Amino acid sequence: MAPLLPLLLLLPILLLLAIADALPPACSEVVTCAGQVVHYPFSLNSSESDCGYPGLDLFCEDNATLILPVKSHRYRVVGIDYLAHTVAVSDDDISKYANTGGCLRLHVNLTIDYTNSWLQLTQSDSNVTFLYNCKKSISWLPAVELRGCQQQDGKKSYVLPDGGITGTEAYEYECEEVVVAPVLGLHKEKILPLTNGSFGEVVKAGFELMYNAHSQQCDGCERSGGWCGYQRNDTHGGMNFTCFCDNGPAAARCNQWCAT
Ligand SMILES: *[C@@H]1O[C@H](CO)[C@@H](O)[C@H](O)[C@H]1NC(C)=O
Ligand SMILES: *[C@@H]1O[C@H](CO)[C@@H](O)[C@H](O)[C@H]1NC(C)=O
Ligand SMILES: *[C@@H]1O[C@H](CO)[C@@H](O)[C@H](O)[C@H]1NC(C)=O
Ligand SMILES: *[C@@H]1O[C@H](CO)[C@@H](O)[C@H](O)[C@H]1NC(C)=O
Ligand SMILES: *[C@@H]1O[C@H](CO)[C@@H](O)[C@H](O)[C@H]1NC(C)=O
Ligand SMILES: *[C@@H]1O[C@H](CO)[C@@H](O)[C@H](O)[C@H]1NC(C)=O
Ligand SMILES: *[C@@H]1O[C@H](CO)[C@@H](O)[C@H](O)[C@H]1NC(C)=O
Repeated sequence: MAPLLPLLLLLPILLLLAIADALPPACSEVVTCAGQVVHYPFSLNSSESDCGYPGLDLFCEDNATLILPVKSHRYRVVGIDYLAHTVAVSDDDISKYANTGGCLRLHVNLTIDYTNSWLQLTQSDSNVTFLYNCKKSISWLPAVELRGCQQQDGKKSYVLPDGGITGTEAYEYECEEVVVAPVLGLHKEKILPLTNGSFGEVVKAGFELMYNAHSQQCDGCERSGGWCGYQRNDTHGGMNFTCFCDNGPAAARCNQWCAT
């Protein structure tokens, strides 16, 4: 009888340890980077067992820059509003190619493939379109010629606000590259009417994205009190959706009554 007593006393502690162990730290972790609070559904420098929405894994560089990577592109996180479910981003690479000789030269569309993403543009955003190195001149408004972008061969570049031009129209001017950048409408208003130099600032100011668990799987998981995430599946080496619950990971939702 006597040797059993210490074991019985230990049991609740062991149980507590098991419960604490079940939830990946990323679920409840609150960290800061560059003065910004990062927590679920975002994750920071996450490892193999990811808690948080897919695509919201942020990187912290030197405690100075918070980065949202989308495919090969890096967006600098300017702010996260956890109540409104929005994240303000700007293009991190812009300083590299902006204002090279006064020419704001973008090489990638700053839009995201929103159909496959848990991120969406918001009502606050609009797009601007850059047309680079066009053989034919565009002389109509609201097209504005980009200062400093003129080529030796006389090719010119232009910037247009939302709805200023369609993709097919753009090709008629035989431009080498068409690049679309979402911008905050608010910032755009400030610099209207469009002038040669003001677009750099507007593009640098960035735009706003909305994040949403617009997935039935994740909605169901969160409503059952769980955290959405991903876990590596040893069978095929890929990642599978996982609902992280207080009592351990589940495939779809937490079942507080059946699980032990
Ligand atoms: C990051 O910077 C903040 C201030 O901006 C500071 O309080 C914090 O200790 C820093 N963290 C690290 C890991 O350096
Ligand atoms: C996070 O990841 C970035 C990019 O891989 C790296 O530069 C940074 O040092 C990492 N930070 C921490 C705290 O691990
Ligand atoms: C940007 O998107 C437009 C369509 O919206 C496309 O025509 C263009 O080729 C894209 N540009 C780049 C650099 O990927
Ligand atoms: C901006 O471009 C994106 C991607 O092409 C598109 O989904 C979005 O509707 C555009 N926004 C506006 C206000 O036109
Ligand atoms: C923009 O700059 C170009 C080249 O400097 C100039 O030809 C053009 O008239 C300017 N456009 C406007 C609207 O200021
Ligand atoms: C791992 O993958 C296999 C095959 O696709 C699947 O049957 C199984 O349910 C997965 N396991 C988890 C934990 O998602
Ligand atoms: C896990 O992921 C694999 C590969 O994406 C998929 O085929 C499989 O159906 C998933 N399993 C579950 C249980 O979600």
